[in-house]
Amino acid sequence: MRFIDTPIGKKIIMSVTGIILIKFLFIHLIGNSSIFLGPNGINLYAQSLHSLPPLVWGFRAVMLFIFLVHIYFAIKLTLENKEAKPVAYAIDKTLVATFSSKTMIWTGLIIFAFVIYHLLHFTIQITTPNFAASLNPDNLGRPDVFKMIVLSFQKGTISFVYAFALLALMLHLSHGIQSIFQTLGLNTQTLMPKIKIVGTVVALLILIGYLLIPTAILMGIVKI
Ligand code: HEM
Repeated sequence: MRFIDTPIGKKIIMSVTGIILIKFLFIHLIGNSSIFLGPNGINLYAQSLHSLPPLVWGFRAVMLFIFLVHIYFAIKLTLENKEAKPVAYAIDKTLVATFSSKTMIWTGLIIFAFVIYHLLHFTIQITTPNFAASLNPDNLGRPDVFKMIVLSFQKGTISFVYAFALLALMLHLSHGIQSIFQTLGLNTQTLMPKIKIVGTVVALLILIGYLLIPTAILMGIVKI
């Protein structure tokens, strides 16, 4: 418990929870990409995912806990850092700090707001009730997740909200991944440039991977 109270203890918790959240993002992206296989791909995937409710709910509970722990320690660390440096410098000396590192708390809050919206949109399905998969079965009687996603992203405003959140996620990840290596003590002079590249590449892969879905729908490549 004492260890958790130290700055490095908090950073280790942020790194471990961050790694788990990044793994979720990759798994979620692979699952969502089944939309490119058509209604049979993603509707079958969604149906199999929901065929074991205790597993789904157990997984959701664990992920929610990890997400909340990550946010709690992020806010705690940010407030403590502010307390340690109450007077802003006359000249900003954090010249080496990149845009993404200075905006971690803001991009994090955008992601938090997005996740709440996203859960209301695709899990609880109340923001676009006409497209709700649970109320619109496909011709095999499965919730029509394909139709829900396609009809949603055909709306420019919804696609824009997703693109904006994904951009924030990209900035957050590119710095977050570097921080994980730093916390693990792998930030030597020679390794640092490589770590920066790894952070940027992983963040770009997530951004492009997720953006492909609304883009393909807006371009009419994926359609009903
Ligand atoms: C094009 C982008 C995305 C699509 C098409 C998409 C699709 C979906 C769908 C269909 C669900 C409902 C799953 C279910 O009810 O079982 C869902 C749930 C979820 N998504 Fe996404 N998603 C996208 C991006 C994201 C991003 C960027 C994040 C995280 C920052 C995210 C986090 C989640 C979470 C936490 C859930 C709840 C998991 C659950 O219900 O079991 N998604 N998503």
